Amino acid sequence: MEKNRIEIFQGDITTLEVGAIVNAANNSLLGGGGVDGAIHRAAGKELLEECSKLNGCETGDAKLTLGYGLKAKYVIHTVGPIWYGGHRDEFDLLRSAYRRSLEIAKTNKIEVIAFPAISTGAYRFPKEIAARIALNETLRFLSRSRYPRKVIFALYDDESCSLYNKFLGSENGQIS
Ligand code: AR6
Repeated sequence: MEKNRIEIFQGDITTLEVGAIVNAANNSLLGGGGVDGAIHRAAGKELLEECSKLNGCETGDAKLTLGYGLKAKYVIHTVGPIWYGGHRDEFDLLRSAYRRSLEIAKTNKIEVIAFPAISTGAYRFPKEIAARIALNETLRFLSRSRYPRKVIFALYDDESCSLYNKFLGSENGQIS
């Protein structure tokens, strides 16, 4: 069952020794605060150098770089939507950020990928809706693909952690 390929980890995503960690970046891909700042600090300036050659990234899309000083081999930089109340395509754009990151993991045969809770910090996406989208989109993808073998959700705050655990504990496959 796809749920067995999902794990919850509470803590700092930059500490994980995995194939790829996902960065909740902005359109410039040139760094920022939150998880983006933590990833760039841990990876070192070579990451910024590679990112500066990528010509940015559209909201809902994702791009791959090496991990440099990180324990993760790769970083998949994705850009989630800023929350404006739900009428600016935010749901589809968040789904797309997860799907494009997973597609890149599949193309590169990455076995284990770790996601932060994209858009739920500076971009203000409501945590509960974001958790449902993250889990549903991931479960849908895993049901159709052998790669990635495992998806870790690296969550910082207690609220996100308990939401993901609650949804994963529910009986039916689809999280409603
Ligand atoms: N490990 C795991 N999760 C973390 C970490 C960490 N080290 N640090 C923060 N979080 P945010 P966004 C959580 O703001 O909302 C940046 O400036 C945090 O608690 O990092 O997508 C970018 O450059 C929250 O739950 O990303 C963009 O401009 C989640 O990660 C903008 O922020 C996402 O919060 C993107 O905003």
